Amino acid sequence: MNDSIYFFAGTASQVIATRLAELSNRRLAKWELIKFSDGELRPILQEDVKGAIVVLIQSTYPPIQHMFELLLMIDAAKHAGADKIVVVTPYLGYMRQDKIHAHGQSYGASLVGKLLSAAGADELIVCNPHARNLQLLFDGIVKQVSSFSICRKYVEDLGLSNMCFVAPDSGALEEAKLYADYFNAKLISCVKIRNKPNQVKEIKITDSVENLDAILIDDIIDTGNTLVAVANQLKKQGASSVRALCTHPVFSENSFERLINSHLAEIVVTNTIPLKYTSEKIQVIDIAPLILEAINR
Ligand code: R5P
Repeated sequence: MNDSIYFFAGTASQVIATRLAELSNRRLAKWELIKFSDGELRPILQEDVKGAIVVLIQSTYPPIQHMFELLLMIDAAKHAGADKIVVVTPYLGYMRQDKIHAHGQSYGASLVGKLLSAAGADELIVCNPHARNLQLLFDGIVKQVSSFSICRKYVEDLGLSNMCFVAPDSGALEEAKLYADYFNAKLISCVKIRNKPNQVKEIKITDSVENLDAILIDDIIDTGNTLVAVANQLKKQGASSVRALCTHPVFSENSFERLINSHLAEIVVTNTIPLKYTSEKIQVIDIAPLILEAINR
């Protein structure tokens, strides 16, 4: 029995994996990614992981090769005789497909759970997964990391006395309520009407937000359309300031410009996904200590 633990950094999560290694006084394990000319991937683990605990760190934001690279790494660890495979996906994609809303739709979150299980993952650690039912979709232990305990410090440091926490849609309500309860502040829920994925047709806010400093709480920023639409509406209804506090900066399309040029005074995200651009309006909170806690739990 090999009692070593190896931390492997997938290509999508080099920075956060390096942080995790630093925080736990470990070196990152060696591996190589072979790429065939058509894009086919073949990871090679360059450590003897037989009987060891293998921790694979890889967020699965686009492109989808990030997901497949992870599946292949799990497979490689399995074939090399690892005793336990822990998959750390700070951001796990496809979790928005956590239900079948209409006949004929795919159930993407369930498929991802099955793929990770089938590849050989024993444990899955995910930060704020969009799918609340993830434990039912993965055949192993699921540890969910909530960004709340590290992000609330940002709110504390703002020192605002007239805040409200805003859930842009019903899915964000539970998380926004955590903040509202903790800070003894008003909780505002919005009705978000979409015409298609990522497009917001209308935002309805029935409560008064006049003269309040609003903090939007959401898990994912994808196109940024949700945040911008809610920020516009909050401003229209008299909010003094609007900020956003979200876990996963997916930042697709031209979301970055859209957010920078919006009513949002500040956009705070965690480092589950590396940022391609920087701006003084965007602040990044390090979630690695919470992930490490989950690995050690
Ligand atoms: C959806 O339910 C999620 O919680 C986010 O609100 C959504 O993914 C954000 O997407 P976008 O930034 O494209 O509006």
